[in-house]
Amino acid sequence: LVPALAAQDLAGLTVAVSVGGTREHLDPVRFLGNSSSGRMGWAVARAARLRGASVRAVVAHTDVDGPSGIDVERVGSTAELGAAMTRAAKGADVVVMAAAPADFTPASTSEVKIKKTGDAGTTVTLVQTPDVLHGLVEAREDPRQVVVGFAAETAVDQAELVALGRAKLVRKGCDLLVLNTVGLGLVFGREDNEITLLARSDDGGAVVDGPHAGSKDVLAHRILDGSVAVHRRG
Ligand code: CTP
Ligand code: CA
Repeated sequence: LVPALAAQDLAGLTVAVSVGGTREHLDPVRFLGNSSSGRMGWAVARAARLRGASVRAVVAHTDVDGPSGIDVERVGSTAELGAAMTRAAKGADVVVMAAAPADFTPASTSEVKIKKTGDAGTTVTLVQTPDVLHGLVEAREDPRQVVVGFAAETAVDQAELVALGRAKLVRKGCDLLVLNTVGLGLVFGREDNEITLLARSDDGGAVVDGPHAGSKDVLAHRILDGSVAVHRRG
């Protein structure tokens, strides 16, 4: 797909997308992070831009660069990502939570570098972060706004993956959930992926679409196709 050939079917729409993994600081030089490379979120931003959407990206730590021609706001922690996404989602038609926000953050962050004392170990107390996706669903003003979540699960097969996904779709309250299976060496940092889309249906159930394998760029288009279908329906 090159820009000149891409259908401009998202022209006039605004897509807000979160990208990458958050970092929760213990002190000025140390943090808790995760293996998200940011590739999936950037792929969604790139695909939406190619199709004519106006794109706002809220970007935590990434290993790779994103596309040009989009609005980018850099963030660190899950709390910062939540605040920035709440602003970016206002007035957006499609909101995609592709980022991997940390679920836990240190109960306190030291303003000075933590020092060793003798040969003693240490204990870090973690508290839960706010659920950004759930907050975006709750804060939604326009009922036609489509909110998309991701779920990476360590499922043994497709049936378990879909069962875990159904429960998460209900818990999060989003319109579309992008499911994939994770394990060591799978998904994170790779160019290709395999996803299953779960769309919330009017009867409270979920419509399963997939699994679909492909590059993250190709899958990003599929995710946008699914989002547009929900937007038209809504
Ligand atoms: N998410 C979020 N805020 C958090 C954690 C997760 O918005 N504090 C979003 C992710 O960006 C993703 C979706 O929620 O779109 C699902 O993330 P996942 O980690 O699978 O779900 P959790 O609710 O954190 O559940 P789990 O205990 O399985 O990690
Ligand atoms: Ca999580």
